[in-house]
Amino acid sequence: MSKKNILVTGGAGFIGSHTCVELLTAGYNVIAVDDLSNSSAQAIERVRQIAQMELEAGRVAEVVRAQGLGKLMFHQVNILDRVALDQVFSQQPVDAVIHFAGFKAVGESVEKPLEYYHNNLTGTFTLCDVMREHGCRTIVFSSSATVYGDPDCVPLTEVAQKKNATNPYGWTKWMIEQVLTDLYTADDRWNVALLRYFNPIGAHPSGLIGEDPKGIPNNLVPYVAQVAVGRLDHVRVFGSDYPTPDGTGVRDYIHVVDLARGHVAALQWMEGRSGVEVINLGTGTGSSVLDVIHAFERACGRALPYVMMPRRAGDIAENYADPTKARTLLGWEAEYDLDQMCRDSWNWQSHNPNGYED
Ligand code: WQD
Repeated sequence: MSKKNILVTGGAGFIGSHTCVELLTAGYNVIAVDDLSNSSAQAIERVRQIAQMELEAGRVAEVVRAQGLGKLMFHQVNILDRVALDQVFSQQPVDAVIHFAGFKAVGESVEKPLEYYHNNLTGTFTLCDVMREHGCRTIVFSSSATVYGDPDCVPLTEVAQKKNATNPYGWTKWMIEQVLTDLYTADDRWNVALLRYFNPIGAHPSGLIGEDPKGIPNNLVPYVAQVAVGRLDHVRVFGSDYPTPDGTGVRDYIHVVDLARGHVAALQWMEGRSGVEVINLGTGTGSSVLDVIHAFERACGRALPYVMMPRRAGDIAENYADPTKARTLLGWEAEYDLDQMCRDSWNWQSHNPNGYED
């Protein structure tokens, strides 16, 4: 049976590159599209390397053992460039798209709303228009638990009410969900999965790919990792007076490899269907900032300095997923715990102190 072609926008990014690995080892051909504005072409080479390693270790789907790995193609293209994107779709049939490409820094989005709305929304409009022109109407969208805002109660199920976002980045996720839903309402051939991630962290256990934010990390775990490797001096804990067990913010951290496998499970479930399906991808376990710091200390084998600071504007006290739907609908659930996430994050950071620049 011929392998299906999956186009991955943002395929050189943190979650995109890990998803490319899981797609290849599951027997798909992958067309990675990325403008490299916030990622490295090195990640694509390492994806190839990891997939080959997984094949040699026998950690691949039966179809891959029988037929070999799928092809990995890479195009340095910005999805706003309609002509270039159309050329990519013209080179081979695209069976489905996984859409990661977009700006994602919460704080930066507050300072640059126009750039965020243009890049994330217009990029999605262009992508969907080119997809439609080429008869491809299956899309998995990288959404976020941020669309739930400050939840009325936890754990969060998919029927929890969407709330107003607290920043333009969150609004772009919120709005793109609406756009894709309206696309299906207008044309019921569309086949849409809205995957709402909680907090993706960690790295592939090979240590070859991982999170490599530009500048000072906005997110907790890459910041802690840079303290551990000596690039930053100490961790700033934003808030110690939240109504949580130890007073610090609680989140549902999920291993990026688990998250990537959730995308493959969603694609397999979507086969031959149409409609719009919202699915939370989380572990169902909440961990505090101090839990994360202590798990990272166990991973790197030393105490990490941290300082209690005032709350960060826009932060919520806690959120974590009810992962029941993903388990019952997709047959997928997260396997790795916080200690494994921190071990893999430390393995990546300690072998790549300056990320892909090395
Ligand atoms: C986690 C916890 C902070 C940094 C955001 C987006 C989400 C997703 C992930 C983007 C909070 C605390 C953080 C630090 C700290 N998308 N913290 N010191 O805000 O839950 O989610 O990023 O990629 O859509 O909303 O993630 O890692 O920034 O914060 O104490 O230096 O760590 O207060 O409690 P967040 P985060």
